[in-house]
Amino acid sequence: MSASSNSKPISAKTILQMKGKDPIVCLAAYTTPIAKMANVHCDMILVGDSVGMVLHGLPSTQGVSVDMMVMHGQAVRRGADRALVVVDMPFGSYEASPEQAFETASYIMQETDCSAIKLEGGTHMAETIDFLTTRGIPVMAHVGLTPQSVKGIGGYAVQGRGEDRQRVLDDAKAVQDAGAFCVVLEMVTEELANEATALLDIPTIGIGASNQCDGQVLVVDDMLGMFQDFKPKFVKRYAHLGQAAEKAIAEFADEVRDRTFPAADHVYPDKK
Ligand code: KIV
Repeated sequence: MSASSNSKPISAKTILQMKGKDPIVCLAAYTTPIAKMANVHCDMILVGDSVGMVLHGLPSTQGVSVDMMVMHGQAVRRGADRALVVVDMPFGSYEASPEQAFETASYIMQETDCSAIKLEGGTHMAETIDFLTTRGIPVMAHVGLTPQSVKGIGGYAVQGRGEDRQRVLDDAKAVQDAGAFCVVLEMVTEELANEATALLDIPTIGIGASNQCDGQVLVVDDMLGMFQDFKPKFVKRYAHLGQAAEKAIAEFADEVRDRTFPAADHVYPDKK
């Protein structure tokens, strides 16, 4: 039975136990209406710091604040009482020390009532993951392409090719050994995803990492086709809502200008 066919709230432990059984479905989402839909169909909802680029128009995730994550975490949590809600820790809010990470993670959990936090980084974040998990904070790790360090790694490129392969595997193993309950593998080759998934006892959640992973995550606006000019190779558009929305807005504007909206159906006549 998949976790999504059961109405019990899904815990980090449940996700861990799905390894090698059911594929894990995760959606990165930021609002209550979408969370209500994902709550029915997905195992996890990730309130990703991609919210900064997707909803706030920022050029990268580096400008995202803890307050933004808390606001969207609260919105998602209001719509999700079954799917596991994970909130991303934004750039600059956890990297300095395990203590800084604990302060941010505990604040986000208290303010949003989420069940876990996510942070980016492999071997160099292992001490922090250990510090958090031994203090009762479930951690989703994130290795491979880590968008918060995109300036340091020179862009959004596939990770782990050639000699870099071992680095990504070491990162994945390090976050597992430090206590993460699952790990996002972003933009790595199919071979590497396969190897990491076989190596680890915790689930791998792929984004641009092939169907060899234990689960998949996509950003909701990407998979709904909200952006007409942005589609990385790994995104599949399950709908074309951006096009439909643009058409609807253009129609509204035309009808206001030619005074065909509001029509008789949309006005309040005087009571007879
Ligand atoms: O911020 C985000 O949405 C993410 C996922 C794409 C994994 O980190």
